[in-house]
Amino acid sequence: MIYLDYAATTPIDSIVSDVWVRTEEEQFANANSRHILGQKAWAFLQMQLSQMAELLHVQKENLILCSSATEANNTVLKGLALKYPQKKHIITSMIEHASLIGAASSLEAQGYEVDFVDTKEDGLFDLEHLKSLLRTDTLVVSLIAVNSETGILQPLEAIAALCHESNILFHSDVTQAMGKVPINLKELDFASCSAHKIYGPKGIGLLYRNDDLSFIPLLHGGNSLSPYRSSTPQSALIAAFVKALELSMTHQKERFEKVSQLKTYLLDQLRSNPRVHINSNEHSLPHFVNISILKTRPEKGIDYFSSCDICLSSKSACCGQDEYSASVYAITKDMERAQSSYRISISHLTLESELDALVEAIERMPYED
Ligand SMILES: Cc1ncc(COP(=O)(O)O)c(C=O)c1O
Repeated sequence: MIYLDYAATTPIDSIVSDVWVRTEEEQFANANSRHILGQKAWAFLQMQLSQMAELLHVQKENLILCSSATEANNTVLKGLALKYPQKKHIITSMIEHASLIGAASSLEAQGYEVDFVDTKEDGLFDLEHLKSLLRTDTLVVSLIAVNSETGILQPLEAIAALCHESNILFHSDVTQAMGKVPINLKELDFASCSAHKIYGPKGIGLLYRNDDLSFIPLLHGGNSLSPYRSSTPQSALIAAFVKALELSMTHQKERFEKVSQLKTYLLDQLRSNPRVHINSNEHSLPHFVNISILKTRPEKGIDYFSSCDICLSSKSACCGQDEYSASVYAITKDMERAQSSYRISISHLTLESELDALVEAIERMPYED
């Protein structure tokens, strides 16, 4: 089986799963318990948090561990809405992950106004448009760091500076950027990410909050690792997340170079196929190759690739099955391309022979009426 869907999720690194299992066995006590094993688990977790903070160049008080990036995205928007009830305006974009759009839409249904920042032809957010949307009652600007279909990396520092000039909070979903490129979290007010995109386990995410910024928690309960999220700390998942982060940071440069070479290898072959249009552009991270294969529809196309033992996606795994791709439409303004797009997401684990098999499968792909 050829796996080319690393943006949907990554296989867990065996070093990470070893840490996970060992911690589950050795640190099973509830870190909120008062007894000696609870205290040991608490001390262990404090060490883990310190290590995570060091890796991310932030303070450990800035880290709110939760179940997923979906939870982090929902928490920041809804938690800020509870904290600042007089601010009824949210700015985001059409190329966010479904969890962010979903959270914004649920607030819209409660009477919030939601504005969407345009993207320019190159796929980057139109900062002039963003500037024109900022208002005194804007609760938060939430814009994605790397789009999960096209892989386009946005200029986070410039966006943060623009928001801060107007004293407006800036949140970014950095799930697809974390581990792949350096991110300066300190420039942001809030950020969300998830362990399973960086060869860590599913079921653990992070909401970063900059110093002194707060919101009303969505999960109330006993005191835990952070006052912003109650629950028994997931010690083993946290330790595994820290190990996954450490590995992705340590190997970031060499993995990036390897993936860049693989992308060049793939694009050189795809360019000779007249049915293929390449949607990702010079701003896309090398891990993403978004293409349209004309006269095909992804609903059937994904099944066709599966029959060739190749796993890839059309859109983000969390989007509906038969819509067009809003992210591809945003950069191509071409509905045919947006309706026939596929996301090939590659990794340092990808082999050239796997890409050869994909190219061959695309060449043999049947036309649809
Ligand atoms: C950009 C982005 N945000 C959020 C998520 C959701 O992450 P999780 O699966 O941890 O909820 C994903 C995963 O597909 C993503 O790509």
